[in-house]
Amino acid sequence: MILKQTQAMILCHIIGVLLLANVGCQACPSGCTCRGTTADCYGKLPRMSQFQQQTKDISIHDVETNEIPENTFADLNNRNMINLYNMKIGKIKYGAFKNIENINGINLYSSTIGTIETNAFTGIRNLSILSIYSTNITTIEPYAFNHISDLGRFAIYLLKVDIIKTQAFAYFNRLNLFTMYSSVLNIIQNNTFYKFQNIKRITFYVNTIGEIQCNTLDILKNLIGSDVQYYNNRVTCDCTFYWFIEVITVDSGRFSTDTGNVCNAPQKYKGEDLLNAAMEVNIKCSGQKQICPSVTDLEVEEKRDTDNNASTGDNAGSSADTDGLSMPQLFLMTSLLVVKFL
Ligand SMILES: *[C@@H]1O[C@H](CO)[C@@H](O)[C@H](O)[C@H]1NC(C)=O
Ligand SMILES: *[C@@H]1O[C@H](CO)[C@@H](O)[C@H](O)[C@H]1NC(C)=O
Ligand SMILES: *[C@@H]1O[C@H](CO)[C@@H](O)[C@H](O)[C@H]1NC(C)=O
Ligand SMILES: *[C@@H]1O[C@H](CO)[C@@H](O)[C@H](O)[C@H]1NC(C)=O
Repeated sequence: MILKQTQAMILCHIIGVLLLANVGCQACPSGCTCRGTTADCYGKLPRMSQFQQQTKDISIHDVETNEIPENTFADLNNRNMINLYNMKIGKIKYGAFKNIENINGINLYSSTIGTIETNAFTGIRNLSILSIYSTNITTIEPYAFNHISDLGRFAIYLLKVDIIKTQAFAYFNRLNLFTMYSSVLNIIQNNTFYKFQNIKRITFYVNTIGEIQCNTLDILKNLIGSDVQYYNNRVTCDCTFYWFIEVITVDSGRFSTDTGNVCNAPQKYKGEDLLNAAMEVNIKCSGQKQICPSVTDLEVEEKRDTDNNASTGDNAGSSADTDGLSMPQLFLMTSLLVVKFL
């Protein structure tokens, strides 16, 4: 890697010498334009390891790709901002965003994503903000967001998600704010939020939810030491929501300060205050009482973390890699240098 950068620099200096000009030699991944502390990349995923440390703000946009593979963002610690937008991504694979730390912000927005796989975002530490917004997502797998800690803010908003699977958000620790808002969430499965600890504030508002299954919002509300605000959401008040209706009616005091939550469907209850509708739904669905499944730690595949120590995140490059120089090119460069100094 260092060698490739050195080669590119030598080539750049030779061009400079030939043109008798200072062409501002800065190593930059192919597909990107690097100026000062910023890089703008589009069309394909750049090789992150080729960004120099002086490149602090990285924008990657208008990339259509079947997948973002493991370790794609492994070499990007200690940057300022990483923005990804107008992306069309089939899968964000296991470990694509893993072990990232000390970055001001990572923003992923205005994009379409098929699947966010298990451990796609994992081991992320000490970011001011990690946000995903204005994006359509088909599936968020279990443990897609796993072991995320010491963040200023984890924010998800203006999303359209077809399905958020069980334990999709797991082991969040020491956050100032965890927030989800203004999103359309078709299915939120049982136990979606799992092992949240030391989260100062949790907000969940203005979401439209198709089906929300057991142990979800009530789990957030039950977190000790967290300020949890849940308001202006629209939910489906059919019998699949019975478990929450029961939680509300059993402990109405704790939910009475939540304002503006209403039923969105069925038509009969549309617009009706959730607490008011709860009584009716409770009676109507009493024959269909659900037993909520208990939470068990799912077996999450971790093995690739250990057999991967040789890889340094260089696997994001495409086959059209023009950054490396071949032996003939090196020979030509050396010859040019010799000619120049003769
Ligand atoms: C957290 O990130 C900030 C800014 O990137 C950095 O100054 C600080 O040293 C980091 N703290 C730890 C514990 O890594
Ligand atoms: C998301 O889907 C909606 C239609 O449901 C569409 O209008 C919007 O443009 C999509 N957004 C993105 C970023 O693909
Ligand atoms: C969620 O829990 C309910 C009630 O136990 C159950 O009927 C449903 O199948 C569960 N959903 C999933 C995705 O496991
Ligand atoms: C990976 O790590 C193991 C143990 O830490 C070590 O024995 C092995 O040599 C490493 N492999 C490579 C390719 O560095």
